[in-house]
Amino acid sequence: MTHLGVDICGLRLKNPTILASGVLDETGRTMRSVAEAGAGAIVTKSIGSAPCPGNPNPTVVELSFGLINAMGLPNPGMEHFSSEIKEAQKSGVPIIGSVFGGSEDEIAELSLLMERAGANAVELNLSCPHAKGFGAEIGSTPELVELICRKVKKATRVPIFAKLTPNTSDIASLAKAAEKGGADAVVAINTLKAMAIAPEAKMPVLANRYGGLSGPAVRPVGVRCVYEIFEAVKIPIIGVGGISSGRDALEYIMAGASAVQIGTGVWTEGLGVFAKVNEELLEFMEKNGYGSVGDMVGVAHAGRS
Ligand code: DHB
Repeated sequence: MTHLGVDICGLRLKNPTILASGVLDETGRTMRSVAEAGAGAIVTKSIGSAPCPGNPNPTVVELSFGLINAMGLPNPGMEHFSSEIKEAQKSGVPIIGSVFGGSEDEIAELSLLMERAGANAVELNLSCPHAKGFGAEIGSTPELVELICRKVKKATRVPIFAKLTPNTSDIASLAKAAEKGGADAVVAINTLKAMAIAPEAKMPVLANRYGGLSGPAVRPVGVRCVYEIFEAVKIPIIGVGGISSGRDALEYIMAGASAVQIGTGVWTEGLGVFAKVNEELLEFMEKNGYGSVGDMVGVAHAGRS
C-alpha cells in the first residue's frame, strides 16, 4: 500500500509536510489548527532568550513571486513560550522548537529549555538573513556552525536540526560542518537576503531596509541547495522554500529531501495547502509505482557523476 509516512531522526510523521517557522506558529492554538489541517509536524516561531517586539513597520513586502519580510524575530521569549508548546502538543504531531541566539552558549541553553518544554526536536535558526548578531551573522562560517551544533548536541537529547542560509557560496560546507558538530538533520533553505525600493519615496520599503525573500522565486535556489547538500552529507535533509504543490515537494524530495516545510505557501494559499500537497504527492506515487516517500528521496542523482 502506498503511504506518505516518514521517519526523521526517530520522529514519526504521518506525511512529509511540516509547517515552516514563522507562520501561524506563535501560539499553541494556531499550531494546533495547522496540525488539524494536515501538517505532519510543526516548527514553532523562532524563540529567543528575552521577549522581542520585532521591527517597526513596514515589515513585509508582497510581490507576485514571493514575499520579503523583516519581522525582526518577534517572540514572547522562551520563558513565556513553554505553555504554547504544551498546548501545541495536544495536536499529536511532533513539535519542533525553533530557537535563535547570539552565541553558542545561548543557543544551547535555549535548546535545552525547548526540550524541557516538551519539544520533540530543536531547529537552530542559524540563517535569518538580516538580524544583527543573530542568524546568518553567526551561521555563515562552517567553524561556527560546527561549534554551535556541538554545544547544542551536548546540552540536549532530542534531535537537533540546523537551518542553513543560502546566502553563501558553499552551503554544502555549512551542512558538512553541521553534521560534524553532531546535527541530526539539516534544513535548507532559509530566506535569501533581499530588498525592495519605493521609487516615489526614494527609499527602501522595509523599515529594516533588508529582509528575507521567500516563496516561489526561491524554489530553484532551494532545490539546488538540497541537491548539493545531498551529495555532501549522510544526515537527513528537510527541504524548504517555495513549496505549494505536490510537484514542488517532489522536486525537493528527488533532490534529496526526506521531508519538506511549507511557510509562504500557507500565507498565500491558506491552511488547505497541506492537504493539497499531500493529495498530489500520493497521486504521483500511485501513478508512478512509489510505495513510500523514502523511495523517492534523492532519485534525481541517479546516473549523474
Ligand atoms: C526573519 C527571520 C528569518 O529567519 C527569516 O528568514 C526572515 C525574517 C525575521 O524574523 O525577521
